[in-house]
Amino acid sequence: MINDVERVLLSEEQLAKRILEIGAEITADYAGKEILMIGVLRGAVLFMADLARAIKVPVAIDFMAVSSYGAGTSSSGVVRILKDLDENVEGKHVLVVEDIIDSGLTLNYLVDNLKSRQPASIKICTLLNKPDRRKVDVDIAYNGFTIPDHFVIGYGLDYAEKYRNLPFIGILKPEVYQD
Ligand code: IMP
Ligand code: MG
Repeated sequence: MINDVERVLLSEEQLAKRILEIGAEITADYAGKEILMIGVLRGAVLFMADLARAIKVPVAIDFMAVSSYGAGTSSSGVVRILKDLDENVEGKHVLVVEDIIDSGLTLNYLVDNLKSRQPASIKICTLLNKPDRRKVDVDIAYNGFTIPDHFVIGYGLDYAEKYRNLPFIGILKPEVYQD
């Protein structure tokens, strides 16, 4: 697994430090409120678990799954809900938690969909922002790191369901996905 990594982009320590900072920022912004964190499966799970523990106001968690890349490395533009929420978001302060925003198509669709369910507020928190290939505007309230246009893996992010358990964010060797 480690042999497929070109280089480490963000170390375990860098991730941990930045997540504590974002957690503190969110804690201050939501003082006196409760947050419903909505994680986008499956990539956001590791980030969400660490972020939730860095937030000191009450937090409820729920998950959504939407269709994504499959085994490829670029977005199809087709977004489909594979798993919907278990909770009702009406009147709640929703914080959508994503691993990475690339074209923006997934989040753009998801946020429009969630807005139609009348939450009290809705904001986006992403660990990684890859703006080079953005196709639609996404309003990001909390961003961990802006990164260049490489295919990255680890800390929840996969290529063909592999590498999610690497504790750092690494750049995948292109020969792994090009033949
Ligand atoms: P978007 O709709 O193009 O913004 O893509 C969002 C989704 O694509 C993310 O939630 C990831 O699941 C996946 N994705 C985009 N870039 C990468 C990457 O570099 N590594 C792993 N997954 C990625
Ligand atoms: Mg994702």
